[in-house]
Amino acid sequence: MDEAAAPLREAWYYAVPSRQVRPGGLVARVMLGAPVVLGRDAAGAAFALRDICPHRGMPLSAGSFDGRQLECCYHGWRFAPDGRCIAIPSLAEGQKFDFATVAVPRYPTREVQGNIWVYLGDNPQRAPEIPLLDGFGADAAPKLFESVSFKAAIDDAVVGLMDPAHGPFVHRAWWWRARRSIHEKAKPFVPSPWGFTMSRHAPSSNSRAYKLLGSDTDTEIVFRLPSVRIEQIRAGRHAVCNLTAITPIDESTSEINHCIYWTAPWLGALKPLLRPYVRKFLRQDRDIMARQQQGLAYRPTLALIDDADTQARWYYRLKREYRRALDENREFVNPVEPRTLRWRS
Ligand code: FES
Ligand SMILES: [Fe+2]
Repeated sequence: MDEAAAPLREAWYYAVPSRQVRPGGLVARVMLGAPVVLGRDAAGAAFALRDICPHRGMPLSAGSFDGRQLECCYHGWRFAPDGRCIAIPSLAEGQKFDFATVAVPRYPTREVQGNIWVYLGDNPQRAPEIPLLDGFGADAAPKLFESVSFKAAIDDAVVGLMDPAHGPFVHRAWWWRARRSIHEKAKPFVPSPWGFTMSRHAPSSNSRAYKLLGSDTDTEIVFRLPSVRIEQIRAGRHAVCNLTAITPIDESTSEINHCIYWTAPWLGALKPLLRPYVRKFLRQDRDIMARQQQGLAYRPTLALIDDADTQARWYYRLKREYRRALDENREFVNPVEPRTLRWRS
């Protein structure tokens, strides 16, 4: 994979919903080609370590964890949640060993509004912040979570997700929109931290899913590096938020994590109906991107057009600029300029 197409390092990536990591539990993940074991210590703090025992390479997630120590299942070496090795059962009386030489690398970890994020890189100080969702408190958690693994490299997954023109062809469904309802749209965009925002506007008249929320509805859509999309819908005095965070698993696989938050209690009652739709929607994207791989395998030159593909172009420019700013040790300068984009969908 060429360097430009590789996933950005020095960034926070979505790992799992908080509730999937219980005290004393371990969860294994692969993020940017690295095996990661996530856990939660006895005090409730989440942590992430490289999921490889430094002794003989056993995944630590295959061992046990009592809330204080992880024990490798092969020879019983024990590690603290910060990665320090604290016991090697095979050492005989009087044998000296420098435990500091076998620490497990630790990844910075943060929990924000019910999700665990892991930092892949060395210096979280200057990285894009993990977004905070407006209208939801610090202890909010997603009411609905779906994760789908895509056979797509990170750039194809991000571009496919933000693409405004595929809806009527890929997401055809009575509850979403009909193909014949295609019409012209004009949406104003402005730069926002590490990305861009489709300014607040009334949703398209052909989006039936929004109609469910009533007539007094508007929405704002934010994209932020490395691969986060947030749609904040206001419906009267209630808020609904879709948080989509893509995590590169390896060079050819990406995981789309989709969280929905809402404040309207009656949406809770609709949850059993909502889930299959969210799943279907994500699977339509997954299947179209899997098919796209057949063509992309030949590395064709792509033809990104103006307006409908401008968000994709912005993404590539943002990513390039993020890398450059890090290389040159300077501030990131957002390359996006305010602009109204017009397309038919
Ligand atoms: S491989 Fe982990 S203790 Fe030996
Ligand atoms: Fe889609």
